[in-house]
Amino acid sequence: MTGQPNSAAARDVAAVLHPFTDLKAHEEDGPFIIDRGSGVYVTDESGKTYIEGMSGLWCTALGFSERRLVDAAARQMAELPYNQTFLGRSHETTIALAERLLSLSPVPMSRILFASSGSEANDTAVKLVWYHNNAEGRPGKRKIVGRRNGYHGTTVATTSLSGIPDLHRGFNLPIADVLHADCPHHYRFARPGETEEEFADRLAANLERLILDEGPETVAAFIAEPVMGVGGVIVPPRTYFEKVQAVLREYGVLFIVDEVICGFGRTGNMFGSETFGLRPDLMCCAKALSSAYLPISATFIAEPIYRAMVAESEKSGVFGHGYTYSGHPVAAAVALEALDIYEERDIVGHVRAVAPRFQEVFRSLADRPLVGEARGVGLMAGVELVADKAGKRPFDPALKVGAYLMSRAREYGLIVRALGDTVVCAPPLIVTEDEIDELGARFRRALADTEVRFLKDAA
Ligand SMILES: Cc1ncc(COP(=O)(O)O)c(C=O)c1O
Repeated sequence: MTGQPNSAAARDVAAVLHPFTDLKAHEEDGPFIIDRGSGVYVTDESGKTYIEGMSGLWCTALGFSERRLVDAAARQMAELPYNQTFLGRSHETTIALAERLLSLSPVPMSRILFASSGSEANDTAVKLVWYHNNAEGRPGKRKIVGRRNGYHGTTVATTSLSGIPDLHRGFNLPIADVLHADCPHHYRFARPGETEEEFADRLAANLERLILDEGPETVAAFIAEPVMGVGGVIVPPRTYFEKVQAVLREYGVLFIVDEVICGFGRTGNMFGSETFGLRPDLMCCAKALSSAYLPISATFIAEPIYRAMVAESEKSGVFGHGYTYSGHPVAAAVALEALDIYEERDIVGHVRAVAPRFQEVFRSLADRPLVGEARGVGLMAGVELVADKAGKRPFDPALKVGAYLMSRAREYGLIVRALGDTVVCAPPLIVTEDEIDELGARFRRALADTEVRFLKDAA
């Protein structure tokens, strides 16, 4: 499968360690090598073209050939390829990007701290919560609550906060001071007959009980994605965030909103926080911030937290946190250009215009025999495959049903991602209705093949 000894595939297997990959299987199967991209399409080394239905990793919002981003990078690269923001140093592009992000923020925010990845932005938010509570004389208020099935990255802290046991196993995680609340997936976890509102009531009550059991004086923050992405595109049940936020306010628990996937249009508003009425104290963005053309992320910091940080840093004379690439001028220039394009082309308006068609592609699969739930919002969707539709019984994971659908889709020129047996799709935000129709046709063919192969294993 990996071809000739000097093939790119063989060299990959010999030299590259792949994240989120079955390492043993990779030695046999080899890589999937993409050579180039155009619009919502990418082309592999054999010349075959695919609709990139995952925008890479939910990130290339403007597709794969946005010349303006390339030019913005080249201009900045030629002028000043690097600058740091340590020790008070700065640069016009970085300043302008921070200002722009503050002006776009769904709630008033005070300062922006830059990094390169979503993991770093979230990890930073956790540290800032601790720094803030130390400044306020509450060193014992340090536990952070994530959610089962949530995903926040792969640093030590963000892996811990992610509620996915496979990411903990083998890594001696989670760390101490991390708790996990319920996953807000109504289809999977609601009791028979429980409405979305009743389910939300129960989850908010459980969260309150968790905080009370631990002691509110020990619980510092709650972190959540507006829509869980990696958890399988879990759209929150009606009234969930309203009720959860009431609990957080009651016990002085800060709210970190992880907008790494939802930020910049994915849900049909600039931020998922707007779509679902979230009021973050700290907010983290990455991915579409630069349409992923260069790595850059941002942690938005509310004024009270910033003020406490100033007081804490006065004690030692330094706020001792940051990265070599915090506010990297070339990444910042690309992000600024991306934000200009979102505004000029009204990308949010475009997402709203095409989202109904996109959602219909997936919702229309709800009646198919292997589909337990077809769900989504904006330009993100998930199709959960089950062995028993009535009883919602999952397939035996060893059958790898989701992975099979993913491989059939690839055969038909569509890239989607299997997260267990939920197959997710989140195309570039520039996708047109015609491209959505084509994407849907390819997905249906892959699903039909999956039915042929697995209906016998279903109830
Ligand atoms: C919601 C969410 N948060 C954080 C991250 C981590 O971002 P990164 O891979 O840039 O570190 C991701 C990545 O997919 C994500 O989906």
